[in-house]
Amino acid sequence: MKDVVATYYFRPRGDTSPAQAAVAICEEETTGTWTGIGTRQEYVKRLDGSVEAVEACGEGYTTKIHYPSEIFEVGNVAQYLSVIAGNLFGLARLQSVRLLDIDFPDELVPFRGPKFGISGIRHLVGTTKRPHVGTIIKPKVGLDPGDTAAVAYEAAIGGIDLIKDDETLTDQPFCPIRERVPAVMAQLDDAKAETGQQVLYAVNVTTRADRIVERAKEAIGLGANMVMVDVITSGFSALEALASDPSIKVPIHVHRTMHAALTRDPFHGIAMRPIARLVRMLGGDQLHTGTVSGKMSHSADEVRGDNAALMASFYGIKRTFPVASGGLHPGKVAKELATLGTDIILQAGGGVHGHPGGTASGARAMRQAVDAFLEGIPPEEYARDHRELAQALERWGLG
Ligand code: 3PG
Ligand code: 3PG
Ligand code: MG
Repeated sequence: MKDVVATYYFRPRGDTSPAQAAVAICEEETTGTWTGIGTRQEYVKRLDGSVEAVEACGEGYTTKIHYPSEIFEVGNVAQYLSVIAGNLFGLARLQSVRLLDIDFPDELVPFRGPKFGISGIRHLVGTTKRPHVGTIIKPKVGLDPGDTAAVAYEAAIGGIDLIKDDETLTDQPFCPIRERVPAVMAQLDDAKAETGQQVLYAVNVTTRADRIVERAKEAIGLGANMVMVDVITSGFSALEALASDPSIKVPIHVHRTMHAALTRDPFHGIAMRPIARLVRMLGGDQLHTGTVSGKMSHSADEVRGDNAALMASFYGIKRTFPVASGGLHPGKVAKELATLGTDIILQAGGGVHGHPGGTASGARAMRQAVDAFLEGIPPEEYARDHRELAQALERWGLG
């Protein structure tokens, strides 16, 4: 069986050499510890890891560590992470260490991936190539079910493809799922009667891992046509539980709130790339990977690479739809699409509901900005005969 190969960036501490630092990671995460432990059984040695190479990179180094596949329990992602992203982060011999990427042999990927993926979601929405446009109900918490549904209706008649709960809205008493979902779906049905368009509603079912499937079933029973999970706070196992349950027959939208605690420091933590690969393997149909011009800081190269990881050929499983969200508005659409391509979901919360004409106008302005890009017309020119786009550009500007 092939090895698992993990790529790390690191900076050694004190007089530890780069080679010693790489070996420290390798030993800690395979058969060793901080000191020798006397006689080592011959049969254990085959599980020793190895360091492929150590290369200088800026003020630090990169290395690839090979972990023998036998160390891993097939299908147990929590255990996979305890090896490739475990104790190594705390090793005193390293000043910093960041997991950049992972590569698993086929035998360790018994997962089926997304049930829907990009093509399945496009089929549900009735699109082939254009970017999807989504919105997040705002304010993120506080609205009652009736007002939540009213916002959803406005967004739907404005031409939004996807409505989602925000990452902090789950099943609080002010807006319980049992009242929110039927109210929103009824409004989306009304909108469909007017527009002919089926809008998706991703209900945030994030909760304890042992209850999440039950909560998703409740939401689907109430009419939800998509569910959402905050994957970092609830854990990869929660996503896997949802995706692997045959009775969850709707796409899963994956939000990554808290990811920046892992991903933001360029020298330490876990890059988005391995997180994106795990989410795709475990069945996320849509995943936030960031924007190039929004409210959170990301490098364009990283976002492009992460999106490619969601869409390139990968264990024969479906492609996960990348979601660009956080601080977008119509004036930023062209830059996002030019940089990230059109297989993308652009989401705007404030950039829809904060439109001077209200939510429906905000949704129209986002769609107009997308149309302008697809027609190759600069937004300011397209805005001359598209009022909602003009108002949005006036309010937020371009870029
Ligand atoms: C939000 O919730 O505002 C964002 O989608 C978070 O953005 P990020 O995915 O870039 O962290
Ligand atoms: C998200 O969860 O993606 C967001 O809340 C984005 O909201 P914003 O567009 O207002 O930043
Ligand atoms: Mg949010």
